[in-house]
Amino acid sequence: MRLPTQAAGLDKPAGARLLAIASGKGGAGKTTVAVNLAIGLGQLGRRVILVDADLALANVDVLLGIQPRAHLGQWLDGRVPLDRLLVEVADHVQLVAASSGARAMADLDAHGRHRLLAAIGQLRGAAEWLVLDLGAGIAPSVREFAALADEVLVVVCDDPTSLTDAYALIKILHQEEGVLHFGVMANQTGSVRAAERLYGKLAGVVERFLAVPLVYRGAIPFDRCVRDALERQCALMACHPHAAASLAFKRLARAVDKLDGRAVLRHILEGSAGVA
Ligand SMILES: Nc1ncnc2c1ncn2[C@@H]1O[C@H](COP(=O)(O)OP(=O)(O)OP(=O)(O)O)[C@@H](O)[C@H]1O
Ligand SMILES: [Mg+2]
Repeated sequence: MRLPTQAAGLDKPAGARLLAIASGKGGAGKTTVAVNLAIGLGQLGRRVILVDADLALANVDVLLGIQPRAHLGQWLDGRVPLDRLLVEVADHVQLVAASSGARAMADLDAHGRHRLLAAIGQLRGAAEWLVLDLGAGIAPSVREFAALADEVLVVVCDDPTSLTDAYALIKILHQEEGVLHFGVMANQTGSVRAAERLYGKLAGVVERFLAVPLVYRGAIPFDRCVRDALERQCALMACHPHAAASLAFKRLARAVDKLDGRAVLRHILEGSAGVA
């Protein structure tokens, strides 16, 4: 079954802007970024829904130290309505959790995935931002969630395989799923310059071989507080609000939110130009 994608030109449901956090390589920091960026957007007063879209190895609930009353698998089984999945995890931020290690979710067939994409469409009506924490790799669910997003935010870290995996992911999403809007951010970096160098390397090969524009969204430094927060099962932004990485997440949230404002303005201008 062919699922709706940007390339198919199908109308996207109105509502929340959808940001899919991806990396190709495992362990780059997708979940850390998804959780703390969602909280950062919430701190700006935005209504955010964070969706654990890592269907095989969901762990946002563990990272936040919460036990959700229901998860996506139960909704798929028809056991709970969609709104029952929403649980408040920070100011203005609600989480939709998934279950980890559930084979039925990891091996979801096209029909199940199509239903999930439709659920994401419904959730868009209930927030201003939808942030999706994707799994590693290029499984069909990763590709389809990414194809639905307004922007795929690719997380890279200072590791050669991180760059090659990010390149492979961008290539597949662009060439096979029609994804056009990619942001890139560096995580676990030693300095601003190192982050920019990392981005420069990726942008160089992408421009040369794929001709798809990338937008640099910034960097999050390596910070021991991230690990400490994980051990305490508490969001970094909540238990270390003044840590260097938290301050960087606040900047990232402002940048992402501001860019959205420009995109909306462009959309309005293009719309009125079309009418004239
Ligand atoms: N900025 C950072 N500074 C220090 N440690 C970090 C930072 N970002 C992430 N980490 C650590 O890196 C590890 C992987 O992070 P995370 O789980 O967010 O990655 P992921 O991309 O979601 O992984 P997976 O592909 O398995 O889903 C965790 O132990 C996390 O605490
Ligand atoms: Mg993860």
